[in-house]
Amino acid sequence: MRVPFSPPDIREEDIEAVAAVLRSGWITTGPVGREFESGLADYTGAAGVVCLNSCTAALEVALRLLGIGPGDEVVVPSYTYTASASVVLHVGATLRLVDSAPGQYVPSISQILDCVSSRTKAVVVVDLAGVPFAAEELREELGRRFSSEDLPLGRPAVIVDGAHSLGATRLKYRAGQLGDFTAFSFHAVKNLTTAEGGALGWRDGLSIDDEFLEKTARRLALHGQDKDALEKSKAGRWEYDILEPAHKWNMPDVLAALGLSQLRRYEEMIARRHEILEMYADGLSDVLAVLPHRGRDWRSSAHLALTDLGRCAEYRDEIIEMLAGAGVATNVHYKPLPMLTAYRSLGFSMADYPHAQAQYERVLSLPLHTLMTDEDVHFVITELRHAMSTIGLR
Ligand SMILES: Cc1ncc(COP(=O)(O)O)c(C=O)c1O
Repeated sequence: MRVPFSPPDIREEDIEAVAAVLRSGWITTGPVGREFESGLADYTGAAGVVCLNSCTAALEVALRLLGIGPGDEVVVPSYTYTASASVVLHVGATLRLVDSAPGQYVPSISQILDCVSSRTKAVVVVDLAGVPFAAEELREELGRRFSSEDLPLGRPAVIVDGAHSLGATRLKYRAGQLGDFTAFSFHAVKNLTTAEGGALGWRDGLSIDDEFLEKTARRLALHGQDKDALEKSKAGRWEYDILEPAHKWNMPDVLAALGLSQLRRYEEMIARRHEILEMYADGLSDVLAVLPHRGRDWRSSAHLALTDLGRCAEYRDEIIEMLAGAGVATNVHYKPLPMLTAYRSLGFSMADYPHAQAQYERVLSLPLHTLMTDEDVHFVITELRHAMSTIGLR
């Protein structure tokens, strides 16, 4: 038996949707992308959504919309993928990394607040594994302690790296409404995919005009051009200007079609992912801890099955090898950023991130995707239990 880690779940209806765009005569950014954006805005409850070619681009657009650059500081968790932090360096701002809370993957609000200074223009939080961070609470705390008329939102902005969390809910909110800005990923391994892609959403009630945000985000993703490709291609409408030398980050319709098609069945996909997580939790509860994906007032998007190997942690590589030998692909999310060459070179050291280090040493991610049958899930459970007991007997 082979159980891959996270293959895309592509159905006939997805292929048909992409083929229809390929046959339509318009394949780059256009009407299907707009439809996907309004579908995402309806689904997330965000006030506005602009699709881009990655979550990384969406994070950077959020920073640029807020005018963040040299001399500004942005606080980012140390336990995340590089994209949450590299964008801060791309805009020339200063990166402040924060440790995880003891026994948690993410930092506590008080750890974040301790890193905020008068130069902090934004805080990035990560909905790790799809578990929604309490971004609404963080916004409130930042407003109480660090309000300033010089900042576009009157306080440091909260940007959610929601690469994992499309469809997560917390209190009466959905991912997309919790932070000021939320960046989603539709990369090939994500719950909902466009092969590569992402979207930036912003919440209702920001003190920046929605139309301005939408227009500027689109322009920042298309060379700083004052007209989009569809508009420019119309007969007699060739004239254009470049308002700033911006990047090229737009999402083509051929990819938006795949996302739109998947969005139509997305709730079903999330429900199946939760079923698999529950099977893991039931089948493994006596040997390891599976990260919870539901709480009293929240539900995750069920993106990653993170487990804590506990006393078997020092044998993680052996467990990964044994599972690979049995045909089960696993993964490790994440190597904290100060472990990586690029961040070490900037002067970050793991000695300052002891809780992130402890989480990293114990974590193992199990396969989780909507092509998994119940039999696959039981097979993973059996093989993991077997690997752990083999190691425990040594
Ligand atoms: C936490 C996190 N943030 C950001 C990203 C970047 O997403 P993208 O590849 O869409 O830019 C990823 C991708 O895996 C991620 O896991």
